[in-house]
Amino acid sequence: MLAIIGGSGLARLAELHDTRREIVRTPYGDPSCALTFGRIGAHPVVFLARHGYGHTIAPHEINYRANLWALREVGAGSVLAVATVGGIRADCDPGVLVLPDQIIDYTSGRRHTFFDGADQQVTHIDFTAPYDAALRVRLLEAARRAGEAVIDGGVYGCTQGPRLETAAEIVRLERDGCDVVGMTGMPEAALAREAGLPYAALCVVANHAAGKGASRAGIAMDEIRAVLDATMRRVGRVLAQAAAG
Ligand code: HPA
Repeated sequence: MLAIIGGSGLARLAELHDTRREIVRTPYGDPSCALTFGRIGAHPVVFLARHGYGHTIAPHEINYRANLWALREVGAGSVLAVATVGGIRADCDPGVLVLPDQIIDYTSGRRHTFFDGADQQVTHIDFTAPYDAALRVRLLEAARRAGEAVIDGGVYGCTQGPRLETAAEIVRLERDGCDVVGMTGMPEAALAREAGLPYAALCVVANHAAGKGASRAGIAMDEIRAVLDATMRRVGRVLAQAAAG
């Protein structure tokens, strides 16, 4: 079964039918919300709204461990994450879809591993390629069938939030090689790897990052909302193809 984690602007998936909700508890506490089980076409899907159905949980307050644990517990075989980002690279304009292939983690203080506690063996996962190659190909194929252009590859810089970045922080991220910036990609991707769940992220550029392009003088929240409203239908079409593929 495919799991889909929806981010800002995607608390519900219109393509999901015959839905039922189930509350799942985990040793790490409660996930962001009840899980929604349903079908896209004939394909079973479980959906989780990362910020809760009412968009009330900030990026640094999300219980990423409970979310990933719950998805594995109910039988998810792989995880497609949808995440909104700011565009740093020149071609990452609002409305553009990006399938990153690398991550730089700038977060701090998040519960970021299943492998802690006195009773645990020290465990190091390989994270050279943070996103699952086969799942990325599946998403690229899905986008092609849906007729949606996707930038194949890019570095996702994950900041702590919930505030947006300063212009100087974005210059630094750019120097580091980041193409897009978001707040939720980590530890989500690493926990999926620890849990043995293939994971890929489809990023929706909601705005030019701070100090860039139209955000030279600041970032307008109402414009972010307008871009997300306009883009999530396209994301839904890609996800529907991905569920079928
Ligand atoms: N920065 C960080 N996270 C984001 C942004 C941004 O500019 N836009 C959407 N999520």
